[in-house]
Amino acid sequence: MDDVELAVRPGERRALIGPNGAGKTTLFNLVAGALPVTAGRIELFGRDVTRMPSHRRAALGLTRTFQISNLFASLSVLDNCRLAVQALTAAKFAMHRPLARDAVLRARAEETLAAVGLADRAAATVRNLSHGEQRQLEIGLALAGRPRLLLLDEPTAGLSPAESAAMARLLGRLDPAITVLIIEHDMDIALEVARHVTVLHYGRVIADGTRDAVRADPTVREIYLGA
Ligand SMILES: Nc1ncnc2c1ncn2[C@@H]1O[C@H](COP(=O)(O)OP(=O)(O)OP(=O)(O)O)[C@@H](O)[C@H]1O
Ligand SMILES: [Mg+2]
Repeated sequence: MDDVELAVRPGERRALIGPNGAGKTTLFNLVAGALPVTAGRIELFGRDVTRMPSHRRAALGLTRTFQISNLFASLSVLDNCRLAVQALTAAKFAMHRPLARDAVLRARAEETLAAVGLADRAAATVRNLSHGEQRQLEIGLALAGRPRLLLLDEPTAGLSPAESAAMARLLGRLDPAITVLIIEHDMDIALEVARHVTVLHYGRVIADGTRDAVRADPTVREIYLGA
């Protein structure tokens, strides 16, 4: 990262685009706390978190999905979701008795699956899902902890055009209170989900603005669209 300045407002949908190796995932790693910063400052919800470990940033409401899938392939869709609900909200459930806790977990997991269009796939084993359904489930797992800030690293990677369109619709239906920062290679998907776009190139922000401004930017057209 080279002198990157990025401010995202609560509830904003921001797309982060740029060529391979531009530093998009690295930026997520810095924001989430997976990599230490060598210079500069990171604030989350008005708090300085520059030196805060990643699990504490997660507890503040930051959740991310990864460029490479990390589901439990041999478990059911519902069990994957229940584990995520349980892991992400452990403290809140500690006060419940085991049976009541199970019912609450199950209800929350089912509600989360419905939110990502997988209610009718709850009993399926993850490895039997289509690639598109697996990526939907990843969004579900991220939502299970009721995040305030969601970092999505290429949620349409490897999807067919139809699956990508379905993902874009799903992302468009997310709770507007959730702030979303999305890395997306497909400019059309990025621009469908976010009105505001930041373009990275060689670790620097080379353009930042509304989708129309970014689309029209000559540097972006040259390096990103190859125009
Ligand atoms: N810890 C590190 N130290 C040095 N260089 C790194 C480190 N992590 C990543 N890089 C390099 O920085 C560049 C940016 O990588 P990054 O994965 O952030 O790019 P990206 O924009 O997410 O690309 P892609 O679109 O391919 O996912 C790459 O050249 C990568 O090899
Ligand atoms: Mg990346």
